[in-house]
Formats: sequence, C-alpha cells, structure tokens
Amino acid sequence: MKGRLEGKVVIITGAATGIGRATAMLFAKEGAKVVVADRNVEQGQLTASEIKKLGGDSIFLSADVSKACEVKNMVDEAISAYGKLDVLVNNAGVLIRTSRLHEVSELEWDLTLNTDVKGVFLCSKYAIPYMLENGGSVINVSSTSGIRASLISSSYGVAKAGVISLTLTASQEYAENGIRFNAVVPGIIDTPQSRGSTGSTEEFELRVSENPGGRVGGPEDVAYMMLFLASDESSYVSGASFVIDGGRTVGF
Ligand code: NAI
Repeated sequence: MKGRLEGKVVIITGAATGIGRATAMLFAKEGAKVVVADRNVEQGQLTASEIKKLGGDSIFLSADVSKACEVKNMVDEAISAYGKLDVLVNNAGVLIRTSRLHEVSELEWDLTLNTDVKGVFLCSKYAIPYMLENGGSVINVSSTSGIRASLISSSYGVAKAGVISLTLTASQEYAENGIRFNAVVPGIIDTPQSRGSTGSTEEFELRVSENPGGRVGGPEDVAYMMLFLASDESSYVSGASFVIDGGRTVGF
C-alpha cells in the first residue's frame, strides 16, 4: 500500500527536535523524501539518520532560517539532491520568555521576529520558485499566541500573528500556480520549547492541569494535521488556519 505522501519532496525547517522532528518522522513513514533543515546540526543529523535507519529517505541540511544566504543554499541543495520540491513546512521557531513590553530588549524582539516571521518569509521566498510550475503545499507553524494575548512574550505573539497574515496573503498570490498555503495554530504541545519557556517543571505541570482534559498535546498531534495539509487529500484547502489545542482557546 502506498503512503499518503508517496514520492513527495518535503523541506521541514526546525526538524531537529519537537514538532518538526515528529513531522519529519511521520512524513517519511508516509513515503516522503524529507529534507531536515535546522541550525542544530547534531540533532538534525540524528533525525535524518533515524529516518534512514527505519528505511526512509532523508538528508540533513544546516541552515539558520533568519539568514537569506543560508536559506538560499539550503533550498538549492535540496533541489540538487531530490530534483523538485512539493511541500515546505515552515516550523523553525524560538520563544523567549520576556517581561512586559517596556522592558523587552531590542535583541529579544529582533531575535524572535527574525526567526519566527522573517524565517517564514525567507524560506517561502526561496522555495516558491520551485513550486510555480507544478504547485505545492506550504504549511506555516503559527501559535495560539498569535490569535489571543501572548502572555509570556509580546514579540512571539506579534510574530505568530504575522505568520497567519502571511499565510492569508500568499494563499491569494499563488492560487493561480496551484500552491496552497495553510497555517497550523498549536496550543501547548509538550516539546523542549514549551517546557523551556514555562520557567519551571512545576509551572509546566500547572499549565497541563489547567488545559482541557488535564493534558497537553504531543508533537504528533500537530504532525498529523500537517500530514493532511501536505497530502493531496487537502487539495481544496488553502488560506486556512487550524487550531490544535484540545479546545483551550475557545474555553477561556
Ligand atoms: P523546539 O524548540 O523543540 O523546536 C524548534 C526547532 O527550531 C529546533 O530544532 C531549533 O533548533 C530550530 N530553530 C530555532 N531557530 C532556528 C533558526 N534560526 N534556524 C533554523 N532552525 C531553528 O520547539 P517546538 O515546540 O517543536 O516548536 C516548533 C514550532 O512550533 C515553533 O515555530 C514554535 O513556535 C511552534 N509552536 C510550539 C508550541 C509548543 O507548545 N511547543 C505551541 C505553538 C507553536
């Protein structure tokens, strides 16, 4: 039986750990050739080698998504390796816990915006030309912090709201080329990022207990939504945002 992504070439940024890693593993299992792109070389190589060990097809490419020349090289190398590009998952992101707005440093602001929204712009900018002829699917990872008050980082909320805006606009700009743009909007997902940004294990456990059903999501919960968006099953889905938060956002 064929996989749901059989033969598709996919770039996933931030695939060294967390949601990106789970997505890379799932996509490979469903028959995709997976380019693992990350600035974390050691963990990124591990993801790619794990996929290969399980019989999948994957390469690791080192890139900082906030740097145009590194992104361009990464996309060019992906094309050299696999000859085409069908799916781009803009997942790489950082969340820096910050103080109230007047105490946020310029460095914190720039680092967040440069990674979380400029990174999405740059990866899209260099990947889109390879999708213009045959179409494709671009999946942008936003956050519920982008659709409600972002209590632990104003810059993160701005960046993730920007990701949704960019998704909406691009879905219109490239509809004629058959390139679909969608956003996933996760709530709390148990990953190194969410544990690191909470401050302490106790605070993380408190957030878990406050979530509907007393649980938070796992990286696979987001990966399965992205699998649908990457596959041809979602061919009529574009310009949409999908909240994956166990119901938390609508409950408050
Ligand atoms: P994570 O920290 O486990 O993974 C993020 C990955 O992005 C890491 O491998 C990191 O090396 C990479 N990365 C960071 N900056 C980079 C850069 N400049 N260039 C290349 N790679 C870079 O975090 P997680 O939780 O898996 O996050 C994945 C995405 O999901 C992020 O965009 C995050 O903002 C978003 N998200 C996560 C939520 C959560 O609760 N974990 C909730 C909502 C959104």
